[in-house]
Parts: sequence; structure tokens; C-alpha cells
Amino acid sequence: MNDLHDLIRRLPKAELHLHLEGSLEPEMIFDLARRNNIDIPYASVEDIRAAYDFSNLQDFLDLYYIGMNVLQTEDDLYDLTMAYLRRSNADNVRHVEVFIDPQGHTGRGIAFETVMNGITRAMAEGEKEFGITSKLIMCFLRHLSEAEAFETLEQAKPFLHQIEGVGLASSELGHPPSKFQRVFAAAADLGLKRVAHAGEEGPPDYVHEALDLLKIDRLDHGNRALEDAALVDRLVAEQMTLTVCPLSNLRLCVVDNLESHPLKRMLDHGLRATVNTDDPAYFGGYMNDNYIRTADALGLTREDVITLAKNSFRGSFLPQADIDRHLAEIDAVASA
Ligand code: ADE
Ligand code: ZN
Repeated sequence: MNDLHDLIRRLPKAELHLHLEGSLEPEMIFDLARRNNIDIPYASVEDIRAAYDFSNLQDFLDLYYIGMNVLQTEDDLYDLTMAYLRRSNADNVRHVEVFIDPQGHTGRGIAFETVMNGITRAMAEGEKEFGITSKLIMCFLRHLSEAEAFETLEQAKPFLHQIEGVGLASSELGHPPSKFQRVFAAAADLGLKRVAHAGEEGPPDYVHEALDLLKIDRLDHGNRALEDAALVDRLVAEQMTLTVCPLSNLRLCVVDNLESHPLKRMLDHGLRATVNTDDPAYFGGYMNDNYIRTADALGLTREDVITLAKNSFRGSFLPQADIDRHLAEIDAVASA
């Protein structure tokens, strides 16, 4: 038995970068297509998996938006969320901060309320059944306009008690954070936390903009920040959490192979890096797969793995007392 793999499986972990719609497994795409009488451009589950061969982020997004067409009813969103929480529980994930893409649903005529009701019902059920706590972060789709983002923020107003923050997702290149400065300021005025994808494919400048213009509380990906030494120093000084997604980076060709993934370098710089799945149904692995494959490829130490697990709670939006409790649990597991 591999002791490090065993430790990874036993450690309590938080997931801070997961697109709920990216946890839609091919089997569920098929089941929901049948249940809802939706035509999909695939003949079989194998056919779907075979199509998941991406050269970049846009290749993936094209199929991601097709996949989510099968989500039609509140029960569909409930089933999707429960399946993700069940799978995460199996990996000893104790807390999740889940991204949703409301515009991916409202843009196809599914009401904001339908999406929220299905997901929040599952979040309550997941906490009861598995003890997993969860928060929701709604992402603006950056390939759409600022006006559409404002419209989405307006639709969210009746649900603000169920939404922790806003994020920025979808096609990065050509859609810099500055495009959403005003809507992020409006979200801040509503008391919402702010996170943004930056430096996944986009340049270090996009990370600067996310910090300076969007005033983010957490940075999603951030790989390309390593190209700018002063930026790295700033991220370390500010104790900014980076939600890193190794298997996603591999499948979207952000890195050539896991052996050259920057996660170990991030930790060595003192960055508060975390490990996350991004879109596990599309990228071939949930939480423990991401940890184990990256640990093996980069030669992560026991201390590295413990730091990553601790960072996931330190970077969460949980109250400090809850963070402290999870950190103590990690220490207990690590010394058992
Ligand atoms: N939406 C879902 N997954 C994403 C990713 N990795 N980057 C940007 N937008 C996304
Ligand atoms: Zn993402």
C-alpha cells in the first residue's frame, strides 16, 4: 500500500473550484436526455467520452454548453447536485464551494428559480445525509456582455441569502476582468464575495486586473501568475488563495504533462495553492484522483499534501471557528 495515497484519501478536504455543470457525467447526460425527451448529438455513453478530447478551453466549453442542455427541471438540478455531493463524500471532501452558471440555464429558458431550488434542496439534503457543508458562487459568463451580467445579478437578488459570492468563468482570452469591473463592484455592494478565473489561458495582466479592478477574495487557476515575479510576491504577501485544477490543466493543454505542472513550484514560492477538480466529469477525475496523480507526477511530500488540504479550508469562506475545527481534524488524521 502507498502511504501517501492512503493519507490523501483519509485527509478531510474542501473543494473550492468546481463547476456544478461540469460534474454532469455522460451516464447522466444520457438518462436526462431520455427523461426529458431531448435530442443529443451522441449515440452512446462511449460516444460522449470519445468526444472529450480537447486542445484548449474553448474546445471543452463548446461541449460543456451542449451537455447542460439536458438539465431542464428542478429535479434534474437536484439529482446533479446530489450525485456530486455523494461522489465528493466518498473522497472525504467535507466542504464545497460550488460554481453555477445561471446564464447557461436562463439563456435556454430555464428559470433562475428552478435552478436555485433544485440545487439548494440538494445542498440541504447533502449536509443531512453526508455531513458535507456547501456554499454557492454564481459565475458570470465572460463571453457574454456586461449588461447580461447585470441582468443576472438582478435575477439573483431574491436569492442572496443562498449565494455566497460571484465568479467569472467561460472563455478567458479576449474577455479581460476589466469588462466586469462595474458588475463586480455592484456585487460587492450587495455583500457578495468575489472570485475570478484568471491566468488559466490569459496573461498575468488578467490576474492584476482581477486583483485591482474586481477586488477578488480568491483567484481561480492563476497558473500564469508565475510568469511575473512581482505578482507572485504580491499574491504571497496578500495570502491569496489559488484554486488550482491539475487534471483540468492537463486535459485543456494548459500544461503538456503533469510532471511539468506548476503546483509544486507554487507551494515552494509560499503561495496558498489548493487542489480542485474544475469539471470532473469532463477531465477524468474527482478530488482524490487530482491529488494522487499530481502527487505522483511531482513527487509531493507528506507535508505538501497536508499543506494543500489545510489551504483548502484556510481559503474557504467558512467562519474562522469552522476552519479551525477542520484544521484540527487534519492534524489528528495526519498524526494517527
Ligand atoms: N467553465 C467551466 N469550466 C471552466 C474553466 N476551466 N475555465 C473557465 N470557465 C469554465
Ligand atoms: Zn473553472
